[in-house]
Amino acid sequence: MSLFQVYPLYDIEPVKGLGEYLWDKNGVQYLDLYGGHAVISIGHTHPHYLKKITEQINKIGFYSNSIHIGSQEKLAERLSKISGCEEYNLFLCNSGAEANENALKLASFANGRKKIIAFKGAFHGRTSLAVACTDNPSIIAPINENENIVFLPLNDLQALENEMNEEVCAVIIEGIQGVGGIQLANFEFLRKIKELCTRFGAYMIADSVQCGYGRTGNFFYHDLSGIKADIYTMAKGMGNGFPIAGILISPVFKAKNGMLGTTFGGNHLACEAALAVLDVIEQENLIENAENLGNWLMQELKTLPHVKEIRGKGLMIGIELDFPIATLRDKLIYEHKMFTGNSSNKNTLRLLPALNIAKSSLVQFLEVLRNELKNYKA
Ligand SMILES: Cc1ncc(COP(=O)(O)O)c(C=O)c1O
Repeated sequence: MSLFQVYPLYDIEPVKGLGEYLWDKNGVQYLDLYGGHAVISIGHTHPHYLKKITEQINKIGFYSNSIHIGSQEKLAERLSKISGCEEYNLFLCNSGAEANENALKLASFANGRKKIIAFKGAFHGRTSLAVACTDNPSIIAPINENENIVFLPLNDLQALENEMNEEVCAVIIEGIQGVGGIQLANFEFLRKIKELCTRFGAYMIADSVQCGYGRTGNFFYHDLSGIKADIYTMAKGMGNGFPIAGILISPVFKAKNGMLGTTFGGNHLACEAALAVLDVIEQENLIENAENLGNWLMQELKTLPHVKEIRGKGLMIGIELDFPIATLRDKLIYEHKMFTGNSSNKNTLRLLPALNIAKSSLVQFLEVLRNELKNYKA
């Protein structure tokens, strides 16, 4: 049997990871500036993470959500503190798409409405409603086409005002669009969404799957605008590679038995992985580290030739060059042994390293990039 080929692959097979480094089967070392799409938040094979998961698997790995799982409550407690969402409730699931799917479903259950406002360039996942809210017709199957979704230009206050009314169920927005090429929602825009949602009885869903979990120097990027969303969705960095996702739900939503559900969501192992990640984030001050390193790195990147714009916050960074980055990215990986990311913007290189990456590794990357960029003509 062959694999169903849906991913363009790099001809590299990492077999070992430690911190921000990976090694392939020939022992060649790579610097990971991408964290497997923002997933590796505390570095590969962090010793504390390994210890906690190993201890848990030796006790019990899984049982369904029909029994009491104490680590879910521990996780809720820890998340409420670190996110500042003390009054919110937690629902656990397995992936970012599933988190968004549940958030949208919950909003619709609560206000009985169907219309969703999403934004151009958005990516919210591949399940039916999440993909319908994703601005990429090539990944929307005919069965997932949905007339209830309206796409507006990001940061267009007037378009938003024109579209908001009592029919809108929810507005879903990434604080910083990741797949869309590191495009930031501005704070005035985020505040306006919240204001209009409150005025019209709609809900604001903050997709924090990529820009959340401390990556931008704040637990949730959206909150830097001074508002609280009605629902936050999280995944990626939450489990450092162990599949876990969740939604934080404001107290205005009332839970009902059977309303949401999942077999695997919030299982013993997943919760332990997530708790270990939070331990490391707190013990190593990783949110502050992301902010400080990110500020420094973005300033340095601005001094490089061919840079048109540096966008981002913390360790979620887009380097927009004045030429398409595909060849450069290949050179970085094959010659310089450095993983970076692309995006739907062909000129933008995406950086999403672990939040505890060493400054020296970033210095090494800057040197390589500076030298490489000399080879390109203006
Ligand atoms: C902002 C955002 N939302 C949702 C998703 C979907 O997450 P998953 O692939 O875990 O379903 C992604 C994945 O890249 C994402 O970047």
